[in-house]
Amino acid sequence: MESETNPLEVGRNTSGEHLSCWLENRAERQYLPLIVNTKTDVVVVGGGLAGISVAYNLVNRGFSVVLLEDGFLGSGETGRTTAHLASALDDRFFSLENIFGKDNTKLIYQSHSAAIDFIEQTVRNENIDCDFKRVPGYLFAHASDTLETLDKEYNAALAAGADVEWVDEIPGMKMQPIKSLKFNNQGQFHPMKYLLGLAEAITLKGGFIYTGTHVESIDENGVTTSDGFRVDAKFIVVATNSPINSKYILPMKQYAYRTYAIGALVKKNYLPEVLWWDTGDMNVDKDTPPYHYVRTQPYNIDYDLLIVGGEDHKTGIMGNYSEIDRYANLEFWTRERFDIGEVVFRWSGQVLEPYDGMAFIGRNAGDKDNIFVITGDSGHGMTHSTIGGILVADLIAGNENEWESIYKPGRFNLKASKIFFKETIGTLLKYYKTRPDHPGSVNLASIALNDAAIVEFDGQKAGAYRDERGMLHLVSATCTHMGCTVSWNNVEKTWDCACHGSRFSVLGEVINGPANHPLDILDEETQY
Ligand code: FES
Repeated sequence: MESETNPLEVGRNTSGEHLSCWLENRAERQYLPLIVNTKTDVVVVGGGLAGISVAYNLVNRGFSVVLLEDGFLGSGETGRTTAHLASALDDRFFSLENIFGKDNTKLIYQSHSAAIDFIEQTVRNENIDCDFKRVPGYLFAHASDTLETLDKEYNAALAAGADVEWVDEIPGMKMQPIKSLKFNNQGQFHPMKYLLGLAEAITLKGGFIYTGTHVESIDENGVTTSDGFRVDAKFIVVATNSPINSKYILPMKQYAYRTYAIGALVKKNYLPEVLWWDTGDMNVDKDTPPYHYVRTQPYNIDYDLLIVGGEDHKTGIMGNYSEIDRYANLEFWTRERFDIGEVVFRWSGQVLEPYDGMAFIGRNAGDKDNIFVITGDSGHGMTHSTIGGILVADLIAGNENEWESIYKPGRFNLKASKIFFKETIGTLLKYYKTRPDHPGSVNLASIALNDAAIVEFDGQKAGAYRDERGMLHLVSATCTHMGCTVSWNNVEKTWDCACHGSRFSVLGEVINGPANHPLDILDEETQY
């Protein structure tokens, strides 16, 4: 059932107060922290699916691997995905064709398709019980969109090699669109069960995993933890969702969005196991329309869950609806289209949208050749993480991989420059419009329990959070990435930065990069 973590614990267990339906047993996700200096072939920073996948592929090739995670395994975005395994890409094949060309769009499709195949094969090889299923996916036009979008997508998807067909009916939906596209050979699974299965395989094959271990600095010879321990390594892979070792280049080329999900009860086997997506609300944004994504998941002996995501907005910039409104909107949209019972889960996650739609995977741009990154999930976090695991392992092993140039972190594709400028300038304008300029007008005593505000404290902007016991926790409101003012995320009880998506707990700890240093603590626990 719907569960929450204490806001004072956010960052160590998960990246927000609301827990997803995947995050049950935190003990299973916990390993010992690193408390010695050590040496290895490869050090991987980040214990989500990208980091675990690359570690798994490397131990299989005989490399010694040490993986470091600052929370628990999956405490970042892997624990907050809705885990669609889709090669039907939400950036639309016709857009990708315009940006990358026909041949590369084929390669892009093949890479996502290969990622689903890889997961299927690994589940079999390692005997991982993670509810993996091959399922079809149905794409239908949002009310603000036309069939022309589907028509263009059908032709481009076929050209890319996708197994796609027109259908007149979508299984499971009350409200039937006139026509829709069916993509065969998609997939779904339980992301945390898969992640933990891979983690077990890594340690059985001689790899080392440490949790509760924050990496403070990265250099060409390895990493240093915030407890002062050193891992010397020939290769370094940074898989921290938003990379903590790219201060300017990658944060400029990808944009952070919050996305919302609900899990509602449906009678066991009442709905089919398929994926459903609409094309997104064109009235909000024609280039990156926020869309709905839906799937089922076995829950208990009586019920399945219908998991529905959407209502995206830029991190730190709420727009017309509050976080609470967005859950209500999702529920309303779902009840119109599906027979559901009680909503028993609500959570939100963070999506990084690269300017051209594809993840950044490979040698970190502007860095030493032995330092790699995996970032830019683009709403396809599970397949992009798996592609990252395959591609980076190939690059480290010195093998050629035809996907390398597509995912190269240093690329700049002129054909996507319109989105680059629109996102960069648009974000800054919205940030300056919404940031609090007069925090001095907020009275500390007016902050309610489990709520927060930006205030003026000791002559500077501060984030003030009042916990359930009435104690105030004051941190600097200046983001440690590049100095923007953070804003309050009222559902996940975190401080979020609109400029590049860094997020911090109420105690100032980093829970999303690109920032890698905590907010300054101004007053730890006080009564005002
Ligand atoms: Fe870049 Fe905050 S994330 S300034």
